[in-house]
Amino acid sequence: MLDLNEYTITAEVHRRFAGAPDLRLREILTALVQHLHDFAREVKLTEPEWMTGIEFLTRTGQLCSNTRQEFVLLSDTFGLSQLVVAQSHSREEGVSEQTVFGPFHVEEAPKVAGLNSDIAKGATGDPLYVSAHVLSAGAPVAKAVVDVWHADADGQYDVQDANWTIEKSRMRAVFETDADGRIGFWSVLPKSYPIPTDGTVGEMIRATKQSSMRPAHVHFRIRREGFDTLVTHVFANGDTYLDADAVFGVRSSCIGNYESRPPGIAPDGRVMARHFFTLDFCFVLEPALTC
Ligand code: BEZ
Ligand code: FE
Repeated sequence: MLDLNEYTITAEVHRRFAGAPDLRLREILTALVQHLHDFAREVKLTEPEWMTGIEFLTRTGQLCSNTRQEFVLLSDTFGLSQLVVAQSHSREEGVSEQTVFGPFHVEEAPKVAGLNSDIAKGATGDPLYVSAHVLSAGAPVAKAVVDVWHADADGQYDVQDANWTIEKSRMRAVFETDADGRIGFWSVLPKSYPIPTDGTVGEMIRATKQSSMRPAHVHFRIRREGFDTLVTHVFANGDTYLDADAVFGVRSSCIGNYESRPPGIAPDGRVMARHFFTLDFCFVLEPALTC
């Protein structure tokens, strides 16, 4: 078609996608073009602005590697990741809510046998004893695989150290729940930390005068056949950034009490000569959909 203008061009682009045999692809591309064109018309996008956007996206792509995903971080800070998570895992009242996965999970983290081991392995921070209970419909979920990962008192993950190797893993481990659906372990109290701001996402955060901070948290992924895999966090009650998470992940049902304890006997019977913290949290899994 000839003589397309800024209004008629939308229908013509749709017409070209109309023959796509994959109906879902057709639906997504058609809606994407509609919204992109509406956006450009609404803000009267100029040529220099369009080029600035292209350059920003190009540099975002150039920052991506096996160990860094700046596009996912951009999606996180646009709220798109949490939006997709929320609409993919709508939960019944009382079932643990799903949150963004984040970039610091390691698939091959060390498996930990038995209760009450220390996964901090010398990381900086106050001692923290975590006791977690996995349930579904009021019954314990035994043999659930629980991945745990978190930052230290400086807000750093082990993988952010340039010299990190899998053997140097700390503040991360994979547990299996016992017959009562429980795990327990020692680590260090995590602190709030900024998302990586040395790339294009950081430019965007600074240009829009936003906070890059995430409230202190421990990540959990809980998997068991027959249940929807739960990816979630337990955020620290009272943290300054609960209401301003840079990636919009906080759910009030995912806030836990990291309680300060005086020296004395810890929940696992260990005698603590210094003050420490405890977190006791219950996760409720949703049965997987069957057809
Ligand atoms: C995290 O909590 O590990 C995280 C999540 C999303 C973006 C950056 C960091
Ligand atoms: Fe995190």
